[in-house]
Amino acid sequence: MKTKAFIFLCSISVIPCDLPNEIKEEEDTEIFLNKRCDPPCIFSEYYLTLETVDGFPKNCTTVCSDLRIDKKCDLTENQLAATFKNMKNLIGSLLIEETKYKSGTFLTGLETVECGSSDRVQKDINGFDKSFEKIPQFEWDINYEMLELGLTNLTRISCGFNKITTNVNLTRLNIPNLKSISYPSGNGKKMYVILDGVGYNFCITSGELLSFIKTSELQIDMSKVKYCEPPSTVETGKICNSTSITDGCTQIFGSLVIGPENEHLVHQLNTVEVIFGGLVVNNTNLTNIDFLESLKYIYHLDDKSAVIQIENNPNLSNFSFPSLVVAQTLANTKILFSNNNEIRTSDSTYCDRLKNMLNITDPRQIFFDGKYCDNLLAKSGKSLAFQLWIFGIMITIYYVY
Ligand SMILES: *[C@@H]1O[C@H](CO)[C@@H](O)[C@H](O)[C@H]1NC(C)=O
Ligand SMILES: *[C@@H]1O[C@H](CO)[C@@H](O)[C@H](O)[C@H]1NC(C)=O
Ligand SMILES: *[C@@H]1O[C@H](CO)[C@@H](O)[C@H](O)[C@H]1NC(C)=O
Ligand SMILES: *[C@@H]1O[C@H](CO)[C@@H](O)[C@H](O)[C@H]1NC(C)=O
Ligand SMILES: *[C@@H]1O[C@H](CO)[C@@H](O)[C@H](O)[C@H]1NC(C)=O
Ligand SMILES: *[C@@H]1O[C@H](CO)[C@@H](O)[C@H](O)[C@H]1NC(C)=O
Ligand SMILES: *[C@@H]1O[C@H](CO)[C@@H](O)[C@H](O)[C@H]1NC(C)=O
Ligand SMILES: *[C@@H]1O[C@H](CO)[C@@H](O)[C@H](O)[C@H]1NC(C)=O
Ligand SMILES: *[C@@H]1O[C@H](CO)[C@@H](O)[C@H](O)[C@H]1NC(C)=O
Repeated sequence: MKTKAFIFLCSISVIPCDLPNEIKEEEDTEIFLNKRCDPPCIFSEYYLTLETVDGFPKNCTTVCSDLRIDKKCDLTENQLAATFKNMKNLIGSLLIEETKYKSGTFLTGLETVECGSSDRVQKDINGFDKSFEKIPQFEWDINYEMLELGLTNLTRISCGFNKITTNVNLTRLNIPNLKSISYPSGNGKKMYVILDGVGYNFCITSGELLSFIKTSELQIDMSKVKYCEPPSTVETGKICNSTSITDGCTQIFGSLVIGPENEHLVHQLNTVEVIFGGLVVNNTNLTNIDFLESLKYIYHLDDKSAVIQIENNPNLSNFSFPSLVVAQTLANTKILFSNNNEIRTSDSTYCDRLKNMLNITDPRQIFFDGKYCDNLLAKSGKSLAFQLWIFGIMITIYYVY
């Protein structure tokens, strides 16, 4: 309310108003931290250094702070570990930037991180008096010697912007107990995980990836990484691969490739929920691909292959993935159908159905026999007539005005 009134006053006044800063001040970081913690458990120093570390609330299990550990931090890893020994919950934000630490295990006791609004700002002490900067959320950047984050007790991150970039020696995340990433004010707002600039032999575990993709509003931007082997163990269910399909498989590790040699086993795939790889159905006599009835997530860490590739199945007449929520690959082309039953290309409804099911907005990510959905024949002449009708109206408007 106050902000609106302020904008209104600004807009009718002739005096220039310093609008952005005024708005931001309403979400000032001190106000936020004070709302969430009692004063003894707040750490509001801009930098953590040997000089400021005495003020850190070492006895609190829940600490409110915009914790910033960067090149100014002159504590050793052991000193940091001692400082954070009791901290299980961090409310505020975490930035680990330009450090020389080998790992983040000094934060190994941390169980939850909660960030609050992504619009929060704080006074930039390096900047001018009235300059504000956006607070990072959960960020690990430019730590050249870091090998792993090592947050082994972390189960929940409630932050909208999660960024792990330019840690050129990173080999693992090592966040094995992470259950979910969520966002407190997440009503439809997008969340991000950006994982980029890692070591050449970096790998992500199947469990870590699953904890990311279970969050539906999450956008993951990843450079080329691979799955760690072997797959993470599961509490319930069974992990299988293309050559070990049996009853009761819940996860497939590696691409699921169905061909002449295993097409008779597909009825056993009805319990599969996740494929850590792509789905290929090639050279089969299958008439319907409807056996993956529990499949929720397919995630292919491959920058060359589509996530679903259905080829050379002459008797195929339909498909359905009734539970599918996420189907992703690092490659640009997401879906490829080719050389299946004639019905696939004579009718765009199959292509459109997949496109809508997967919320694919870029039409160039899905190909049926080398064509985009839009270039396939529509099911009836109706829509062509409609297009002509619209075209006619546009021509009319053009000439009238
Ligand atoms: C923290 O706990 C230790 C040991 O229980 C105690 O000696 C110390 O006084 C406490 N410090 C604060 C600031 O409460
Ligand atoms: C991590 O969690 C385990 C099990 O809950 C606990 O025993 C251990 O002390 C925790 N580690 C730290 C550093 O707090
Ligand atoms: C990566 O780690 C190795 C071994 O610790 C070190 O020699 C190298 O300098 C690191 N890379 C960078 C870019 O710092
Ligand atoms: C497939 O799973 C079986 C049984 O778990 C295992 O022995 C085999 O090594 C796996 N194959 C691949 C390619 O991972
Ligand atoms: C597929 O059908 C063809 C012709 O009906 C047959 O020769 C072939 O053995 C079948 N393949 C499988 C894997 O059933
Ligand atoms: C399908 O099988 C053909 C050989 O029949 C092969 O050339 C092609 O690469 C296979 N496609 C996929 C996606 O594996
Ligand atoms: C596939 O279709 C062909 C011809 O349409 C037919 O002869 C054959 O029996 C079918 N195979 C299967 C497994 O349905
Ligand atoms: C194909 O499968 C979908 C989803 O199960 C269904 O809605 C549709 O009617 C089927 N189409 C044909 C031609 O059987
Ligand atoms: C597509 O969008 C709908 C509504 O926004 C959402 O419920 C659904 O999970 C999304 N599906 C995928 C595969 O992203």
